[in-house]
Amino acid sequence: MGTLQLLQPEESAELPDDGPVEWAPVAPYWSVLWRSGVALAREVSDARLAGLRVVELGCGLAAPGIAAALGGARVLATDMDDEALELVGRNARLNGVEVETAVVDWSEPDALAARGPFDLVLAADVLYERAAVAQLLALLPRLAPEAWLAEPGRPPAEPFLERARMRWRVQTRRRGVVSVHRMQLG
Ligand SMILES: C[S@@+](CC[C@H](N)C(=O)[O-])C[C@H]1O[C@@H](n2cnc3c(N)ncnc32)[C@H](O)[C@@H]1O
Repeated sequence: MGTLQLLQPEESAELPDDGPVEWAPVAPYWSVLWRSGVALAREVSDARLAGLRVVELGCGLAAPGIAAALGGARVLATDMDDEALELVGRNARLNGVEVETAVVDWSEPDALAARGPFDLVLAADVLYERAAVAQLLALLPRLAPEAWLAEPGRPPAEPFLERARMRWRVQTRRRGVVSVHRMQLG
């Protein structure tokens, strides 16, 4: 994997992240470099995504999306927080790539689905609220035939994965404390 340079707000960059459990910070969630984002960026860097159309959900700093763009993918990075997206654009340019951005809330996904189909969905640490389980189960197959989801074992991941495995083929590998699930959404 090459090097990815990411600017982030100072108060978020100072959060310690070497304990067994990640912090639930006061800083906005989008501004933290979560372990799942790093793990998924590594997964992406090890893959061949050149020429693919990729969408990232709940991107925050969008390390996976920017890594995909570095690998030659055409990337749309989305988050419900437009502050996050402003920094994604800057960080993409800092790494010498372009990443398109769009404000998308999973509770209102029709405009995003209309921009599809994509080849691949990326999502890191997006299963920390129960509402996301049903929203993402419904949204993912509307977007692409495949999704890669990284999560550190927060409680809503369990019901999500239970239902995902009943519907789709799910292959899981560990990257440190993070599980990366590759889901064939057929
Ligand atoms: C824990 S952070 C993870 C950020 C990034 N993916 C990472 O791993 O570093 C969760 C992200 O999901 C976004 N998010 C949460 N609920 C969302 C929703 N309903 N629709 C869109 N984005 C959402 C937040 O704004 C935040 O950027």
